[in-house]
Amino acid sequence: MSKDTRTIEALLKENRTFPPPPAFAAAANARDAGLYKEGEDMEKFWAREAARLHWFRPWDRVLEWEYPLAWWFNGGTLNVSYNCLDRHLETWRRNKAALIWEGEPGDSVVLTYRDLYREVNKFAACLRSLGVKRNDRVTIYLPMIPELPIAMLACTRIGAVHNVVFGGFSAAALRDRINDIGAKVLITADGGFRKGKIVALKENADTALAETPTIEKVIVTKRTGQRINMQPGRDLWWHELMAAAPLYTPPEHMEAEDPLFILHTSGTTGKPKGVVHTTAGYLVGVTTTSRYIFDLKDEDVYWCTADIGWITGHSYVVYGPLANGATVLMYEGSPDYPQPDRYWQIIEKYGVTVFYTAPTAIRSFMRAGPAYPARHDLSSLRLLGTVGEPINPEAWMWYYNYIGHRRCPIVDTWWQTETGMILITPLPGLTPLKPGSACRPFPGVEAAVVDDRGEPVPPGKGGYLVIKKPWPAMMRTIFNDPERYVNQYWNRIPGYYFTGDGARVDEDGYFWLLGRVDDVINVSGHRIGTMEVESALVDHPDVAEAAVISREHEIKGQAIVAFVTVKDGVEATPRLAQELKEHVVQKIGALARPEAIFFTAELPKTRSGKIMRRLLRDIAEGRALGDTSTLADPATVARLKAAYAEEA
Ligand code: WTA
Repeated sequence: MSKDTRTIEALLKENRTFPPPPAFAAAANARDAGLYKEGEDMEKFWAREAARLHWFRPWDRVLEWEYPLAWWFNGGTLNVSYNCLDRHLETWRRNKAALIWEGEPGDSVVLTYRDLYREVNKFAACLRSLGVKRNDRVTIYLPMIPELPIAMLACTRIGAVHNVVFGGFSAAALRDRINDIGAKVLITADGGFRKGKIVALKENADTALAETPTIEKVIVTKRTGQRINMQPGRDLWWHELMAAAPLYTPPEHMEAEDPLFILHTSGTTGKPKGVVHTTAGYLVGVTTTSRYIFDLKDEDVYWCTADIGWITGHSYVVYGPLANGATVLMYEGSPDYPQPDRYWQIIEKYGVTVFYTAPTAIRSFMRAGPAYPARHDLSSLRLLGTVGEPINPEAWMWYYNYIGHRRCPIVDTWWQTETGMILITPLPGLTPLKPGSACRPFPGVEAAVVDDRGEPVPPGKGGYLVIKKPWPAMMRTIFNDPERYVNQYWNRIPGYYFTGDGARVDEDGYFWLLGRVDDVINVSGHRIGTMEVESALVDHPDVAEAAVISREHEIKGQAIVAFVTVKDGVEATPRLAQELKEHVVQKIGALARPEAIFFTAELPKTRSGKIMRRLLRDIAEGRALGDTSTLADPATVARLKAAYAEEA
């Protein structure tokens, strides 16, 4: 039996429950949200939450819904940076820490709300002075340094649409994203620190910029200080621009449905999708979920370890917590640098109270052992969270015991780049927890598990996870591809939003996520499309065909495995395999590096010519082979199995 199957079986048998600690429950923010009863008018609920924000003009309608298009809070105008900053300056929070930042080398910076406000205002003025206007696109390619949230908030202040590209993406990936959205300005850094080394961001940017005709100006912030090229007339230093910038930039009054940002994510084709989020609904969604799910109080030091280059960082490092006036901790580097206790050291140093991380990180901490957290005082912690992939009950229990010391509730939060906000989660203080279950839909969210015709499946049976009603932070479209948006998300199971995830619901109405049901791989909580890796491989001159699948991995959850056929006359050597891995890194980034490459004379295909990935997965995970009767050449499988066994 494979480990994957064992995990699912363990999930099926999991029946421990953990009731909320009474002291936590007594003070939980979620008691407010808990007032929402199923079947109640969800528009009322969202309107009540939206009223906590600052509106220049109130909305006319909470929701307009013309399947599958939604408009939230139409008629209202607001500004995201105003809600995250200006609003708090009118209160005692003006001198509260907004951002506590720690660099990987151990340097640190604290910005109060007033400080952050000033930096954002100045940088907004810099962008304006370069001709950036409402609705212009700005690409941000930065490490996890304060300039990253500053740049994002400055864009929102003037109505520019940001597109953050994760610093681990390659020059080619950066280029493609810039060209997809036609960005006018790029904001980057000389470099960033990662595992004690320098990531050469500006150098990557220079390579990308050779093929990005829309970029007019590049703003470069100095982080590492290594030598870089500055192209006169195009490249400008952040600190020089800021030195001359005025202290105040008036916030644009944005329409509720004006685009706020575009973030690319992997799907089932070779080309990542530019997911578009808009202003009001997104802000209402992330502010509300942050408040109830992370139970944010003014005394909290809140730390979400996600890189801001991913949606988790957008929603739950930057916008949600800052809109709530929280103190946000941000860390630049790697969890195991210089030692596997870096996170625990940071929690102790700053007295972190709410901690949100990914199951893959927890599994690697488990492997390092409980001695690392035991060295540190973690008693400040009161609430833990996870996101990015299903958490196995074993990792959940370890987190609960060794990090939370059996005191802290754990919120296992299910959501996606497309959903913008958490949709399925426990409410801490209200929901009894079951290890491995994301528990129940957030108030106002209607989720269900259905078969491929959209019929509900009975409790305990697996099916597709769908969302039945619109929610405020839902994506509005795919940039420049509205048809793909409708087809991909709303036409798969007509009537519902199709998540691409499998799930089951138990007798208590708890949701258990079972992983992706499409060609998306989840490596260490990062989404990678099999087709993206395949196109990177066939882009190499020696490769004829490639099929990419995932194989279970103890720490990463899933690992990438590629089956490759080479062109006539090419010799399939271990050196070529190495070269192909590097080629993928260059095309996409290190996160997409295949763990293994298997050369084969042919790939198993159906009679209609489709590659049978399920078979490849079975081979890679050593499972008994399923039905091969549709295979064009059944002997292929036997040959593949033999080849795989030899190399594995
Ligand atoms: C997976 C990350 C199980 C899921 C916020 C989803 C999860 C994909 C969970 C989205 C969870 C995320 N339990 N699976 N708590 N959270 N996923 O767009 O497969 O990077 O579809 O957004 O991650 O990944 P994305």
